[in-house]
Amino acid sequence: MDTNVQKRRENKKSLRVKVISLGNAEVGKSCIIKRYCEKRFVPKYLATIGIDYGVTKVQVRDREIKVNIFDMAGHPFFYEVRNEFYKDSQGVILVYDVGLRESFDALDSWLTEMKQEMGSQANMESIIFVVCANKVDLTKRRVVDESEGRLWAESRGFHYFETSAQSGEGISEMFQAFFSSITDMCENGGKRPTPEVSVGFTKEQADTIRRIRNSKDSWDMLGVKPGATREEVNKAYRKLAVLLHPDKCVAPGSEDAFKAVVNARTSLLKNIK
Ligand code: GTP
Ligand code: MG
Repeated sequence: MDTNVQKRRENKKSLRVKVISLGNAEVGKSCIIKRYCEKRFVPKYLATIGIDYGVTKVQVRDREIKVNIFDMAGHPFFYEVRNEFYKDSQGVILVYDVGLRESFDALDSWLTEMKQEMGSQANMESIIFVVCANKVDLTKRRVVDESEGRLWAESRGFHYFETSAQSGEGISEMFQAFFSSITDMCENGGKRPTPEVSVGFTKEQADTIRRIRNSKDSWDMLGVKPGATREEVNKAYRKLAVLLHPDKCVAPGSEDAFKAVVNARTSLLKNIK
């Protein structure tokens, strides 16, 4: 066969991608990657210093994918080192520890840091995100449940997986879905394909449910200042009721959030003259 034709065919079949891992220190980013690439788990914590780099080859359908993995350090101390490495990523593995709420709450700030560092190049639609709710083997210390994590991820169009680098649960499924979506995106001209099944709720609904779950009192739940008037309470209530009414909102947790809002309003109105 003509060597040029052969080369062109091979080029079409092979693909080079860059992926990065993000999340707070000690959530298990390096262990997830090690579990996948080396099939082993190291219980001792060895903090990543700045960044670790590795290459792996995977097969997706008829294509060979060469994956460059940049495993970031989560500690704030290494910000100056990792900020160089956000650019040109096709995939991001966002990790939190299901036993540490602050690591889940920090996901938003990781996205913010990423957007900031990518600057004008920031086109989040051209990146595949997968969220790993990690350390699910430690069931007794779990504080962030599946519905909360899934809601955060899927309302943003991200994949969600429950993982354990320790037992291996969810790891190969997560990487398979991740690499397959990256390949789909590359074949789709660099745009994240729209999911075949829409999640059926908005990011605003998902974020509101999360805010309500984490609110510290009834004022906070309705999003009004302590000492607000009856009108202000009712206005805030109406807005939330329209957004979260179980007939209109199919997001997981909407029913509980709606009930909590009704109760918050009732208890506030009881005490407002
Ligand atoms: P930085 O490099 O500092 O950002 O941390 P990291 O996110 O890479 O964390 P790392 O993978 O080094 O893991 C931190 C600690 O958590 C280590 O002691 C791991 O053994 C432990 N660990 C990681 N994943 C799991 C898991 O799924 N289950 C359990 N039980 N422990 C885990
Ligand atoms: Mg690490």
